Amino acid sequence: MKEIKFSKINISKEDINLVGKIIKSGWLTHGKFTKRFEDKFKKYTKSKYAVSVSSCTAGLHLSCLASGFKKGEEIIVPAQTHTATAHAVEYTGAKAVFADVNKMTGNISLKSIKKNYTKKTKGVIIVHMAGYPCDLQEIIKFCKTKKLVLLEDCAHAVGTKYKKKHVGNYGLTGSFSFYPTKQITTGEGGMVVTNDKKIFNKIKKLKAFGIDKDIKDRKKQGDYDVKFLGYNYRMTDFQAALGINQILNYKKNLEMRHALAKRYLSNLSKIKNIKCMPYSKDCSYFIFQVFCKNRDKILKQLKNLNIGVSVHYSNALPRMSYYKNKYNLNLINYKNSIEYGTENISLPVYPKLKIREVDKICKTITKLV
Ligand SMILES: Cc1ncc(COP(=O)(O)O)c(C=O)c1O
Repeated sequence: MKEIKFSKINISKEDINLVGKIIKSGWLTHGKFTKRFEDKFKKYTKSKYAVSVSSCTAGLHLSCLASGFKKGEEIIVPAQTHTATAHAVEYTGAKAVFADVNKMTGNISLKSIKKNYTKKTKGVIIVHMAGYPCDLQEIIKFCKTKKLVLLEDCAHAVGTKYKKKHVGNYGLTGSFSFYPTKQITTGEGGMVVTNDKKIFNKIKKLKAFGIDKDIKDRKKQGDYDVKFLGYNYRMTDFQAALGINQILNYKKNLEMRHALAKRYLSNLSKIKNIKCMPYSKDCSYFIFQVFCKNRDKILKQLKNLNIGVSVHYSNALPRMSYYKNKYNLNLINYKNSIEYGTENISLPVYPKLKIREVDKICKTITKLV
């Protein structure tokens, strides 16, 4: 069978030429292209500020630092997510506390946040799993009442809306990922959006060693001070250049994702032994998640048939040795997350994927289940 890839990047020849030009120019980092990409990105999400970073993980780490998380504090994160969400908390010395997720959406719920809340809780990081928006209204209300910092992990969520507003604008920050399988890519890379000027300034400094002045603001060479411990989490200019047209053209990309998701649903929603979420106009459709028993067997068969699929993610974080051993976690508390991890299959969604390829994937899966 002709191969169907799980993901295909969406970069034009012009953009590849632009990367060549930037490299030839010799100005490879903190130049005008990172600024341009930040401007276009914040225009897309309608956020006041955007800071480009070297990855979403870096963005989450800086968000945790700027929120003041530290040793002795607890931050609630979903049990079913990429390890980066929890690692970002742990880098600061604070403790990542896992909350079980909804079995179908994969999203954290207010009920499980409340269950894990203690006097030490200082914040919550939500993930819009597979691009489905979390139920933000009630989570925001709870965080306000308890004076908790809310951060959004938007790694799957370029194009995800909640009540007509782009996600990332509800928490203190929203961190996006531009890893190659994501909706837009810069190789590695990420973006932090915020509507808080103080947090913006802090993250901008934290991502570049804690240096207090941009090159353009220095009166003479080397004229800067360092008042706190910063990192080097910058995105290069040739990476940023790749992102500019992708975000400018994202509306079309998102429309195609929705058309493909609708096709998956019309093929699969009535098939016995397959479960999937109903259509949502607010979802980014980073991937199309289906759930079935015997998942691993089906994955193997799909691979043999040259159909590219993935899993997001196979092992809920409390099953990972690092967290399981460190916090002596009892897996009984993460039943939904573990079930989500063992039953999900991520089907491909990207603008170059053809409707007839979606039909072929659906026909094959229907036969296999
Ligand atoms: C939910 C989630 N958060 C964070 C990350 C980390 O993103 P990055 O690879 O850009 O650091 C990922 C990566 O896929 C992710 O899926």
